[in-house]
Amino acid sequence: MIGSLLQILGCLLSLKVPISRHRFKEGDLVLLIDRKDRRYLITLDSTGSFHSHTGLLPHTAIIGEEYGARLSTSQGQSLLALVPTLADYVTHLPRASQVIYPKDLGAILMAADIFPGARVLEAGLGSGALTTTLLRAVGVSGSVFSYEIRDSIVKRATRNIERVSPNLNNLTIHVADVYEQIIEKELDRVILDLPEPWRLVSAVAAAMVPGGILLGFLPTTLQVHQFSEALREHPRFDLIETMEVMIRPWHVAPWSVRPAHRMVAHTGFIVTARICGYKEPVSPRPKDPINGANEPEESQHEGL
Ligand SMILES: C[S@@+](CC[C@H](N)C(=O)[O-])C[C@H]1O[C@@H](n2cnc3c(N)ncnc32)[C@H](O)[C@@H]1O
Repeated sequence: MIGSLLQILGCLLSLKVPISRHRFKEGDLVLLIDRKDRRYLITLDSTGSFHSHTGLLPHTAIIGEEYGARLSTSQGQSLLALVPTLADYVTHLPRASQVIYPKDLGAILMAADIFPGARVLEAGLGSGALTTTLLRAVGVSGSVFSYEIRDSIVKRATRNIERVSPNLNNLTIHVADVYEQIIEKELDRVILDLPEPWRLVSAVAAAMVPGGILLGFLPTTLQVHQFSEALREHPRFDLIETMEVMIRPWHVAPWSVRPAHRMVAHTGFIVTARICGYKEPVSPRPKDPINGANEPEESQHEGL
């Protein structure tokens, strides 16, 4: 008996069959999806069970199963078990603050050009959704420095980050008011998700490498305007741009193809700027000849 088991094991090893890859094991994160597309995020613990109105499913029924397995609850209801994507994860993580949604996280990575090995500062830490995304993008050779003023939420954020980024060696968290001081130098990128980013424009400029990118994520147009003006008036920030990301999901079924009834309409604006050589001093804004206020702005896309 033992001989034949060893023989099978030998065969598997000689074929280099990865016996546990693509199968769930103790401690893994699992996304369970029911027939109505309700989603639940759980961590596998062989003593635990998943309970919902669809019935009960012991974790031991998931451990050892292949990713994408269809399992049956105590009430005979089907549950799909998958490894959560990063987007699934940040959508379901326990929140200590408003989080940045996947649609914006993806755009932030591109707009700020986050690359493997980058030194990135973010403020504030919040629930850790952006931190988790940045850690994955900078990889093991990069560093993320995160500032958070509220000590009370750091523990939860750290737990959230640890669940998907077990090696936190390249994350430094400062429980501090970032408006008072930025400790790091030679930063490649800075991402600000806090209420008054214009207060940091000079400090960020002093802490960044030439050509570095500063990105602000802001929920209101008033903040966008104040931040953009501070960047415009700074002698070194240039290429100041603002965008908003809207994703319209579609409902595609055999007899109906149309936009979904609901969408996430507004989350925030993304403002980016780059550290360049010293620019010509900016002229004060000209007066609007009719109202005495500022003149209407020139179109950024003349001729279009
Ligand atoms: C909108 S949340 C950030 C969410 C985070 N980006 C995420 O995706 O989970 C803003 C955070 O900034 C923190 N914050 C506000 N002012 C700050 C300051 N002056 N210094 C450091 N953190 C600050 C708040 O406590 C809050 O946790």
